[in-house]
Amino acid sequence: MSTASLRRDHDLIEKVIKAMESTIQLLSDGKQIPESILLPVIDFSKNFTDVCHHSKEENSLFPALEQAGMPRNMGPIAMMLIDHERSREIGKEMENSAKDYISSGNSTKLISDMQQYVEHITEHLWKENNRLFMMAEARLQYVAKKVDKELNDIEELKLKETGKTREHYEQLAETLIRDVSQSRN
Ligand SMILES: [Fe+2]
Ligand SMILES: [Fe+2]
Repeated sequence: MSTASLRRDHDLIEKVIKAMESTIQLLSDGKQIPESILLPVIDFSKNFTDVCHHSKEENSLFPALEQAGMPRNMGPIAMMLIDHERSREIGKEMENSAKDYISSGNSTKLISDMQQYVEHITEHLWKENNRLFMMAEARLQYVAKKVDKELNDIEELKLKETGKTREHYEQLAETLIRDVSQSRN
């Protein structure tokens, strides 16, 4: 199925979102969050979610849906493209506020940027999982193999550009969850 690889990405992104939710809670409780948690969150959001995952959707899934008759400049695809752009903007803000927090210890802006990011991505994943991917699964059966191959190729290429692997990001998510839960103590 042409969306399996994308749904797998969403599961991984959701793990990191969960770790971010716990991080927001800890920051709000006045706990110190080390660089070793914040920098991987930023790296993942930029390189896995944006560079890798969004490229897979923008360069393979969306064009395949367009070919199947869905317009690009309105409706679901246009909405998803706007969402991706917005996630890039919030991600950039969050990166800056994380750097400021690391040097100043002031968490106010970081908490609000992380909250916005979490809410935005959670909504976006929901729309794709429950709307767009359902449409894709119904419309793209005849090109599923081609789309699957493209998604794999783009993932490989994009991760190579970042110098990381999928295993690296899967491990990063597990480590984050562990480190965040240890920060509670
Ligand atoms: Fe997306
Ligand atoms: Fe997605």
